Amino acid sequence: MIRVNGREHTAVPGPGQCLRTWLREQGYFGVKKGCDAGDCGACTVHLDGRPVHSCILPARRARFRTVTTVEGLAKGDAMHPMQQAFLDAQGFQCGFCTAGMLMTAAALKQQQLADLPAALKGSLCRCTGYRAITDALAGACTVDRGPATGPVGRSLPVPAGPGIVTGTERFTLDVAMPGLLHMKVLRSPHAHAVIRAIDTSAALLLPGVRAVLTYADSPARHFSTATHEDPDDDPADTLVLDRTLRFVGQRVAAVIAESEAKAEAGCAALVVDYGILPAVLSPEEALAPGAPAVHDKQGWAGLADPARNVVADIRGEVGDVAAGLRAADVVHEGSYRSHRIQHAHLETHCAIGWLDEADVLTLRSSTQTPFLTRDTLCRVFDRPRETVRVFCGRIGGGFGGKQEIMVEDIVALAVLKTGQPVKLELTRTEQFSATASRHAMRVRVRAGARRDGTLTALHLDLLSDAGAYANHSWGTLHHGCNESTMLYRCPNKRVDARAVYTNTLPGGAFRGYGLSQTMFAVESAMDELAMQLGMDPIAFRRRNAIGSQDALVAATHGADDVEIGSYGLDQCLDLVEAALTRDAGAAPPSPEWLTGTGIAIGMLDTVPPRGHFADARLSLAADGLFDLAVGTAEFGNGTTTVHRQLAAATLGTGVDRIRILQADTQLVGHDTGAFGSTGTVVAGLATTRAAEALRARICAFAAGKAADGTGCSLQADGVQI
Ligand code: FES
Repeated sequence: MIRVNGREHTAVPGPGQCLRTWLREQGYFGVKKGCDAGDCGACTVHLDGRPVHSCILPARRARFRTVTTVEGLAKGDAMHPMQQAFLDAQGFQCGFCTAGMLMTAAALKQQQLADLPAALKGSLCRCTGYRAITDALAGACTVDRGPATGPVGRSLPVPAGPGIVTGTERFTLDVAMPGLLHMKVLRSPHAHAVIRAIDTSAALLLPGVRAVLTYADSPARHFSTATHEDPDDDPADTLVLDRTLRFVGQRVAAVIAESEAKAEAGCAALVVDYGILPAVLSPEEALAPGAPAVHDKQGWAGLADPARNVVADIRGEVGDVAAGLRAADVVHEGSYRSHRIQHAHLETHCAIGWLDEADVLTLRSSTQTPFLTRDTLCRVFDRPRETVRVFCGRIGGGFGGKQEIMVEDIVALAVLKTGQPVKLELTRTEQFSATASRHAMRVRVRAGARRDGTLTALHLDLLSDAGAYANHSWGTLHHGCNESTMLYRCPNKRVDARAVYTNTLPGGAFRGYGLSQTMFAVESAMDELAMQLGMDPIAFRRRNAIGSQDALVAATHGADDVEIGSYGLDQCLDLVEAALTRDAGAAPPSPEWLTGTGIAIGMLDTVPPRGHFADARLSLAADGLFDLAVGTAEFGNGTTTVHRQLAAATLGTGVDRIRILQADTQLVGHDTGAFGSTGTVVAGLATTRAAEALRARICAFAAGKAADGTGCSLQADGVQI
């Protein structure tokens, strides 16, 4: 017997089962999985009043003891003070870490609050930067609890807040489903190999194993794991299961079983005969004459030169860089490398799929792009749109990593093969070794300037490691080499940029979309050039950064189609300079710390170049509330709040009168996806336009009613019926 939140449970834990999975089997979905290694704290519960990481505690050790989960933290109807504190300070974004963080925080002693980094070292948050959590623990109320009307810009509480702090908000996998099967994936131990044969017989004989998927089961249609409005933006170079393995961690086969443990045992029983192929592990190796080709498909659209492993080749020049360098008094050359980075959203990639009663292939997925994921599944499985539905629960962070199909395709295949609901949740290890990361890049910068600091030439020579698949390689290269140089008013600019296949983990979308890497290089070079000139780096940027009247000029295509709307770079530089001057003499936090200051500027043109679309539907319901339906997903980016605020502000009503339905391909209109801030700047505009149209219709309707004396009234700040 284990007592959980005052209730006795007699379900016997399986051999070796941890408390986390046992609690979730009993329906305590507030207990999350972030790492299953005792590192992140998302699974924290109280065992006899003491916080423990339930992912590393054998469930049997909890027998005859008392467990409290976040769902049981409150006493009676009132929230626990710590739950209220997290609500008051909105101490979360996606909220996936919050239940565990709260359980840790609720057990802290007063004296531990003095050293929060130590007190919370076993509880990680990927979204907040800990500021909002620190506010919560300090008892600060940062949320605006005034009337729910007024202009956009107020810090209103998110509607999901009470559910997040009480553990009742449902994330992707927080659903119980009868007959649910579990999938585990066997992954390649080789960087480059061909599967000669897979013997599945021993795995299929294991108790509880229902099916094994291999390359023989895979649809023959190639696709890209990247999702863009135009699917041709990314070469279709991926199969659900491929006979050729191109990086350590690629899927070899998948086992579907009655439990994760049985699926894992099934994977261990697979016998694979690999034929090892020569591998290229860096872009330089991959470009060397005679290097093996990672892919041998010459005919794929969108690839620059696959025989030489070149995915994308972007070049261009405005002015004359050679002449600009000759005209310079000082020339600086530097080479800068940035490595792979994982998004590390606390909720790993995951999905549950099933066939509904109308045989619609349905996926509840942790995706930033439900509509484009649906469209890719339709292409791969050759199904009409109305037979595939993708929707989101609350999503535990994304950061661009979920603009990528990492689980949905193989879950769909498993559902179609078994006819039963199937779940796949990647482990933290898989998240690092088998999902897309930020592209590693090598950027050489050559820049010249006159003695007075005026830039005369800027040249970027860029090599991006695409990894084994081309998803997002062209897009990140395009953004990376253009916006980083468009920010400077320089008459002579040149870019030579290539993205190259290697037998390594694929790159993918990541916050900044290629620009973090190139801005790091360009800004480092600008600092170093300023130093060579003996010039203050802020003054150097004031002299060379574009002004409000300047055209944006890209080396690859000249004048850009993006215009400067509002301009605040000069004010930003003033503020940064004042802050740096103010803090110049400040003592370091501790004597052994070395401290320094730096300056960098950056520009991010967020909207994807080849189309981004969002529908919004807004209606006035019979109960007097407004129903807003938008496609954009909420994963801690705040779009739920933003859209309700935009609709309410336009309609002149309160946000509490806006009900929102999001991210469901069957129930709401199309949305390209939530990335590059488009959940606000594109989908938000759609919501505003819908609200304007509805407001006009209500006003016309109300004016007509008023004219015939039936009692509607118009108010200056909105419409009241
Ligand atoms: Fe902490 Fe998202 S709010 S991980």
